[in-house]
Amino acid sequence: MNSGFAEGNRMSAELPRVVADLPVADAIAERLAGRVELLPWDFPGPADAVYTFGHPTVDGAFLDRLQNVRVISNYGVGVDHIDLEAARQRGIPVANTPGVLDGATADLAMALVLAVGRRVVEGDRYARGPHFLKFDPAYMLGQEIHGATLGIFGLGRIGEQVALRARGFDMAVLYHNRHRKPEAEQRLGVSYASKDELLTLADYVVLTLPLSPETRGFIGAAELAKMKPTACLVNVARGACVDTEALTAALRSRTILAAALDVTEPEPLPRNHPLLELDNVIITPHLGSATVQTRLRMAELSVDNLLTGLRGGEIRHRVV
Ligand code: DGY
Repeated sequence: MNSGFAEGNRMSAELPRVVADLPVADAIAERLAGRVELLPWDFPGPADAVYTFGHPTVDGAFLDRLQNVRVISNYGVGVDHIDLEAARQRGIPVANTPGVLDGATADLAMALVLAVGRRVVEGDRYARGPHFLKFDPAYMLGQEIHGATLGIFGLGRIGEQVALRARGFDMAVLYHNRHRKPEAEQRLGVSYASKDELLTLADYVVLTLPLSPETRGFIGAAELAKMKPTACLVNVARGACVDTEALTAALRSRTILAAALDVTEPEPLPRNHPLLELDNVIITPHLGSATVQTRLRMAELSVDNLLTGLRGGEIRHRVV
């Protein structure tokens, strides 16, 4: 079989074979050098492990092609690109990197709340443009942050960190979760709300939900219609939690005031997508955990998960 990979290019026949969506970050490649043989995504197999750096699709057919996979290690917390049931059926553990990225992702969520409420990106564009010739106390009025109500859908680890930050900004915080969390309510000073209550009461609706069949399209036309016309939607979860076309229509018709999206569906949006034309939306390119320090911790943890899985040891963060 011609795999396209000359045998002579292989580092060593002894090293475990790891298929990855190359190139991975240098910090990862350095940690794996001499310990595994990194192979590209189209490697025909057999392989011992899969390392997912971006969000490549891992399904049953892919795993069957690679035959001997003993662990799937994901660089990141969200594993919606991996068919967990297919992995479970084949007895393959899936590992991720929770915990180490909560602070950075919550920081970005707060940055987007501040930016969308106070029109920071629009203001930057204006300050650089030809029309900014004189200070005008009447222009670019935003919405208050302090004293406003922030609603969090998904009070998991990242959601809790968002709540902490929002409380620091003197905001009232509501949350909606599959399960009510009385201990977190006490600890963080947040209040539980039904989905409808949160949508109707919050000035900032923040999504920190994992993407699952239940949360796909979680915010659609009906939900947007329930939000205040002065409210802003902030999504640091997954783009598919929001119906993109419904959001575009709601922003255009000012059903809601504005949105700030770190994630979109599809991602990236086609360059001619109407959402990109609107002034009342901020879009960042999936930067939730993108700090030097957090990405290093993610590299360390995901490499540790991979090597532990290859050894057949107890993986620290196992999803299935
Ligand atoms: C995550 O951790 O899920 C981020 O989206 C990066 O993959």
